[in-house]
Amino acid sequence: MRDVAVIGIGMTEFGEIWEKSFRELVAEAGIKAIMDAGIEGEEIDALYIGGMSTGRFIGQEHVGSLAVEVAGLEDLHIPSTRVEAACASGGVAMHQGYLAVASGMYDIVVVGGAEKMTDVVGGEATNILASAADREWEAFFGATFPGLYALMAKYHMHKYGTTQEQLAMVAVKNHYNGSLNPKAQFKRRISVEDVLKSPMVADPLHLLDCSPISDGAAAAVLAPLEIAKKYTDKPIKISASIQATDTLSLHGRKRFDALPAAQHAAKLAYEKADIKPKDVDVAEVHDCFTIAEIIAIEDLGFVEKGKGGKATEEGLTALDGEIPVNTSGGLKAKGHPVGATGVAQINEIVLQLRGEAGERQVKEAEIGLAHNVGGSGGTAVVHILEVI
Ligand code: COA
Repeated sequence: MRDVAVIGIGMTEFGEIWEKSFRELVAEAGIKAIMDAGIEGEEIDALYIGGMSTGRFIGQEHVGSLAVEVAGLEDLHIPSTRVEAACASGGVAMHQGYLAVASGMYDIVVVGGAEKMTDVVGGEATNILASAADREWEAFFGATFPGLYALMAKYHMHKYGTTQEQLAMVAVKNHYNGSLNPKAQFKRRISVEDVLKSPMVADPLHLLDCSPISDGAAAAVLAPLEIAKKYTDKPIKISASIQATDTLSLHGRKRFDALPAAQHAAKLAYEKADIKPKDVDVAEVHDCFTIAEIIAIEDLGFVEKGKGGKATEEGLTALDGEIPVNTSGGLKAKGHPVGATGVAQINEIVLQLRGEAGERQVKEAEIGLAHNVGGSGGTAVVHILEVI
C-alpha cells in the first residue's frame, strides 16, 4: 500500500444557504479544492462524494454523475461514486478515496461531501435523519436522534455524574470556536445559562445542545505521498484511515456509555499511525449533540471513560487547552450538513496542520485527528493526519 497525502482542500460556508442550489454548493467546494491543489481537471482519476439522503432532502439521487457534470469533467468519463453512511458519509468517502490511492489504482482522487437539508421543514428533516436509525425498531416507535443521544446522556449522567452544565460547556466552547471561523453557521458566542434556558428538545438536551440543520459542501484532493510535493509545499500525510461498524440500533449495543465502533476505529488508527492519544495536537470530533463530544473524547482515549465532562469543565479541550477539540466550531456551531461533515473535518485539520487556521490556530500542531460517526454509532471513521 502507498502512503497518501491531502494536497488540496475547499469548502463552502455552512448554514441556511437558500441562495445556492445543491449543485452550486458541490461545484464551489470542488473547484476550491482543485484550485488549492493546483491540479488540472484532466489529472483527476476518480471522485467519491458523501451524501446521506439527497433523494429525500432535495429529490436528487445519482449524485456521482451530477458531481462530474458540475465539475465539467464529463468528457473524461472518470468513475464517480456516491457514498452513503448516514452522518459518516463524508468520512467513509474519505476512506474510499484513501483506499483507491493507497492501493495504486488511482493517483489523483477528489473526495467530496454535500447535503442541502434546509429545503424541507424541521419535522421532515428530523424524520429523514431518523432513517439513519433502525426504522423498524427505533424510528417507527418515535425515536429521533435527539431522543437517542438524550438516552446516552441520561446514562452517562447517571453512571459518571456528568452534569447538564458540563454538557452546556461543550456548546459554549464550540460556539466560541465557531465565532472565529468565517465559514461557521453560528458565529455568536453563548453562555452556559443560554444553553440551559434554551428550549428542551429531548431531556436532558436543550436546543443549544444540538447541532443544527444545515446546507454545505466540502472537498479534498488526495494523491500518493511520493508525488504530493509536486503540487504543494505543505502536503499533509494521512497516517491512518480506519472505518468500523456496530449495530444499527442503540438498544442492540452492549454498552451505552461509549460508541464501541469509534473505540475500535481509534485503537486501529493509533496502531497504524504508531502514535498514542496524547500525541494528538488537535482533533475534530463528531459533536452532533454535546454528550457526543464528551463520549468521543473518552472513546478516543484523550481522557478516561467517565471523565469527559470534568475534562471539558477544566478546559482540556479548549482552544488553549492540552488537546483543542473542534476548533472549527464542530458540528454544533460550524454546522452539520450531514454528508459534508466528515470532509469538512478534514478541511479543518489540514488548515490547522498547515498553520492556516487564522485566529483559531493551534500553536505547533503537527498531528491531527478526525472522528466522524454515522447514526448513533453504527458507523465510525477515524483519520489521523500528520505534517511531514
Ligand atoms: N443550535 C443553535 N441555534 C439553533 C439550532 C442549533 N442546533 N437550531 C436552531 N437554532 C436557532 C435558529 O437559528 C433560530 O434562531 P433565530 O430565531 O435567531 O433565527 C432558532 O434557533 C429557531 O430555529 P428553528 O429552525 O425553528 O429550530 P427548530 O426547533 O426547528 O430546530 C433542532 C432545532 C435542535 C430541533 C434542530 O436543529 C435539530 O433537529 N437538530 C438536530 C439535528 C440532528 O439530529 N442531526 C443528526 C445528528 S445524528
